[in-house]
Amino acid sequence: MHFPLKHILLFTLPLAIAYPSEDTTKVPTVQEAAVQARELLRSEKFGTLSTVFPSSDAPGLGGHPIGMMDYYADCSPNGNPTLLAIKIATSFKNARNGAPISLTLREHSPSNEFYSPAAHHRLSLMGRLSPPIPADSDEGRRVKVCFTKAHPDAKWWVPGNPIHESEWVTFEVERVYWVGGFGDREFIGDIPVELYRNVTLSEEVEEEDVTAFKIQRVWGGLKSMLRIE
Ligand SMILES: *[C@@H]1O[C@H](CO)[C@@H](O)[C@H](O)[C@H]1NC(C)=O
Repeated sequence: MHFPLKHILLFTLPLAIAYPSEDTTKVPTVQEAAVQARELLRSEKFGTLSTVFPSSDAPGLGGHPIGMMDYYADCSPNGNPTLLAIKIATSFKNARNGAPISLTLREHSPSNEFYSPAAHHRLSLMGRLSPPIPADSDEGRRVKVCFTKAHPDAKWWVPGNPIHESEWVTFEVERVYWVGGFGDREFIGDIPVELYRNVTLSEEVEEEDVTAFKIQRVWGGLKSMLRIE
């Protein structure tokens, strides 16, 4: 009796009461979702690069998709992520061979408390990789400082390192797909790329992460109410 009840409550209650004190009919506009998307890009720094193996692929994987975690940094004013492309890495090999490429991110909880990833932001950017940014140019030096600030460990494989050939590239966003969370309270769908590019973020975005996790607190409340361990 105890278990089924808990399950029924888990799957029916949250949608109705996750924002008990707020108007759940207010779904963000596409303009607001564009800001949320840029905030997510700013607050995360790992994503999944998805590509497709070329038809000439020797082990017979031609046409097959593959998604691999990679590092990115939000180093441009227009939401085009910066990547450190290791030349032998599958994602970059496929992209160089003309594969379409996407970068998928999801919002992570800043704490270990119980929360529901399904209620949180997800973003898929589709586009193409820029030609390499020369490492010895002003722009190359700028992205190195910005990228290694987000990823101190990446200093070991920046261009010019003795182990792997690598280069700075920009992920040039052409399409933006957004899943804000549960569709009754979050925007889900395409965000016009111009809206996404035109967002200007203030420097304090990281502090705003706290508000993004409002729903987490509500789930925390649910947890104690339902006595979920
Ligand atoms: C984006 O900004 C450009 C340049 O300011 C402007 O011309 C354009 O109308 C804006 N587009 C959108 C969708 O906001």
